[in-house]
Amino acid sequence: MNKLIKRSSGLHGEIKVPGDKSISIRSVMFGSIAEGDTIVSSLGTGGDIQSAVRCLKQLGISFEENNDLVKIRGKGLYELSKPSSILDVGNSGTTFRLLSGILVGQKFESTITGDESIQGRPMKRITVPLKLMEAEIKGKDGDNYAPLTIKGRKLKSIKYNSLVASAQVKSSIMLAALYADGITQISEPYKSRDHTERMMEYMGVKLNIDGNNISIEGGQSLQGKEIFIPGDISSAAFFIAAALIVNNSEIFLKNIGINPTRTGIIDILKKMGANIDITNIREKNREPVADLIVKTSELNGVEISGEIIPRIIDEIPILSVVSALASGETIIKDAAELRVKETDRIKAVVMNLRKMGADVEELQDGLVIRGKNKLKGIEVESFGDHRIALAFAVAGLTADGDTTVKDAEWTDISFPGFFELL
Ligand code: S3P
Repeated sequence: MNKLIKRSSGLHGEIKVPGDKSISIRSVMFGSIAEGDTIVSSLGTGGDIQSAVRCLKQLGISFEENNDLVKIRGKGLYELSKPSSILDVGNSGTTFRLLSGILVGQKFESTITGDESIQGRPMKRITVPLKLMEAEIKGKDGDNYAPLTIKGRKLKSIKYNSLVASAQVKSSIMLAALYADGITQISEPYKSRDHTERMMEYMGVKLNIDGNNISIEGGQSLQGKEIFIPGDISSAAFFIAAALIVNNSEIFLKNIGINPTRTGIIDILKKMGANIDITNIREKNREPVADLIVKTSELNGVEISGEIIPRIIDEIPILSVVSALASGETIIKDAAELRVKETDRIKAVVMNLRKMGADVEELQDGLVIRGKNKLKGIEVESFGDHRIALAFAVAGLTADGDTTVKDAEWTDISFPGFFELL
């Protein structure tokens, strides 16, 4: 499906965006291995979350839906059922890596895979630590690629220094640690999103967190709870960006998750000169939530690298679009992880921005964008990546002439209803 985007003369309104993808996937997964029922409200509806639910149903979990509520009947750590067919996570890296951390502790053997993109993404980052915990895993090319066949067993605790700041890696090990004897210690170079830590603690697991180091003792159970899913800041980012770059705009976004490990995009946009008000801050199941007011702003280029990168990793495509319209140069470094996302996001952003007439240079670990204040409407690719499709739909709102986003259905992975809301 192609989508035609016309230049906009101003965005106005009050909106809600779908429930946070990271928190939604954790809620259904943790609810499944908890004792008792978990009741989730405002669960996200994107394709990745549906993939997680589908896999958990294959593992014998029942989900009851009632209006905005989903009730999950937790089976405890060890009572998932052997699936009768291969577990298919679709496009969801979070489902693949977190679920693997649960499968290594089960009483059965199972095989987990995903779509073409998933089958090309590096999995050694989880299979290496999980095998150090004595997990039995077999995959392609030295256990680096899906499908993985995992035979559950009793695990051993480890002390692991992850070389990548990845919440998927950290969470996979933390889940496996529940099935291990003794205390597992995990560290990462920079702090990645901490939804797993917050949700595990909320569900009764004791953690010891000291900066970027986490210790977790095996054998602890999760207790079923009520979980509210805030709006996804990574989805809100497309509307925040749109309101900033389209003249005469003012929008109000309700119930957005503002976990500090996710708000790099707000910090950077503010540094660029963005007019974003954060109001009505409150906390729901240990996750901070707020309402945001965003107005059209004059923006300047910025440099980002190092510690902030994991806090803004999913927002770099849309930040790049914004930067192309800002004054001056934007430099993004230390972001080589973008090359192993749903697609190579550095390449995808560079190709589409160049097509639209932007001045952009590709770096091995990022990109340099010299802002020009003008983009031209043209046909852009989605590269089978929801965030690329969404970012370039927003770019089209400011372009001279019409923009066509090819294969725009990829937006459904994280943001079903995006075009209608727009
Ligand atoms: C996620 C972690 C990040 C992020 C992804 C969701 C999560 O991936 O890019 O969209 O829910 O844990 P990495 O852990 O690979 O950095």
